[in-house]
Amino acid sequence: MTTPSVASDAGALLGVYARVGPVFVAGEGSELIAEDGARYLDFVAGIAVNALGYNSPVFRDAVMRALDTGLVHVSNLYRTEPGERLATELAGRAFPSGGQAFFCNSGAEANEGAFKFSRKWSGKTDIVAFTGSFHGRLFASLAATDRPDYRRAFEPLLAGVQIIPLGDKDAARSVITAERTAAVIIEPVQGEGGVRPVPAAFLAFLRELCDSRKVALIFDEVQCGLGRTGTWFAAEQSGVVPDMYTLAKPLGGGLPMGAILLNDRIAAPLAPGDHATTFGGGPFVATVALDVVRAIGDHDFLADVRAKGKWLGAALAALVPRRPRVREARGRGLMWGLELNEAAAPVVAAARDRHLLVLTAGATVIRIVPPLTVSRDELERGVAILDEVLA
Ligand SMILES: Cc1ncc(COP(=O)(O)O)c(C=O)c1O
Repeated sequence: MTTPSVASDAGALLGVYARVGPVFVAGEGSELIAEDGARYLDFVAGIAVNALGYNSPVFRDAVMRALDTGLVHVSNLYRTEPGERLATELAGRAFPSGGQAFFCNSGAEANEGAFKFSRKWSGKTDIVAFTGSFHGRLFASLAATDRPDYRRAFEPLLAGVQIIPLGDKDAARSVITAERTAAVIIEPVQGEGGVRPVPAAFLAFLRELCDSRKVALIFDEVQCGLGRTGTWFAAEQSGVVPDMYTLAKPLGGGLPMGAILLNDRIAAPLAPGDHATTFGGGPFVATVALDVVRAIGDHDFLADVRAKGKWLGAALAALVPRRPRVREARGRGLMWGLELNEAAAPVVAAARDRHLLVLTAGATVIRIVPPLTVSRDELERGVAILDEVLA
């Protein structure tokens, strides 16, 4: 019997992903390395997960230290130190006047938990989300996701979820009610929906509306949070503080991890038995996450993300007048979208042929979310390739 090749094994994996391109076997910094040794500049970063790049010393050291304890998983029935320390760190950054953290395993799971918490706190049921949103693929998070094509085959989803036009204050005033609405969920910078920063004034308007109608305001910072936009939370740039943040993607340095950060008001009615997840915040992943968040949260690290983001934003904006196929560059920090006048997928494929990985965000937007450790040189190389494929 011969050993099957990597390529022939692909058939056993459920075909819900349209996988393309080479088989990757290693990574270093901002590059992925394929079977044949070819290097790809990676501006996808595991879809905004690999904030510290590949083979990061911060991640490696944390993993080794975590392994040395012999504790990978200990049930949440017992106390372990790493999760408690991580909760203090994250809740403290989110809510200096008092908050708590619940750890889970993904972004969708974080949003589902946040919906439950909002119901317990408010005594109400309904959820309001916005056009262009993406909150995950489970039954409640998918109901709040504005992608009919993702939802259609799986309905009925959670009842009582409404999606209203982003930025429409009148719609918000009429749909977000004191009687029925438990939570409003919004991404301060929409990711999958086309990389759209939400104006600070709209976030502030939602904050006021939610306060006056006893509705929990949830900021889904799964993609835009944890330094991606050049500040610790993306919403910091608006000055608006929600009742809950949901986090995931970069949190575990590539290990699966999500978190709900909730203020003391929302946390108050929650008691043992109200929510749980077997793996959430185990000592291994929490040890790694604590080092990852400390690295990202470092003042100089975030200043560097902002500086590189400023350069990237200007370089992408400069493509607009030069390349008629590009309509607009949008983004913050190291989270950018290039809106095209045509389908984005062929451009993504052409960039991959030139060893640059970027991805789409909807049909006509190219999304650029490199590791936050990307160098200015690498950004220049990437933009030059995009310029070439858009010629
Ligand atoms: C803003 C946002 N929320 C939630 C999710 C879902 O996260 P996960 O795939 O970890 O369930 C994503 C994933 O892309 C996301 O971008």
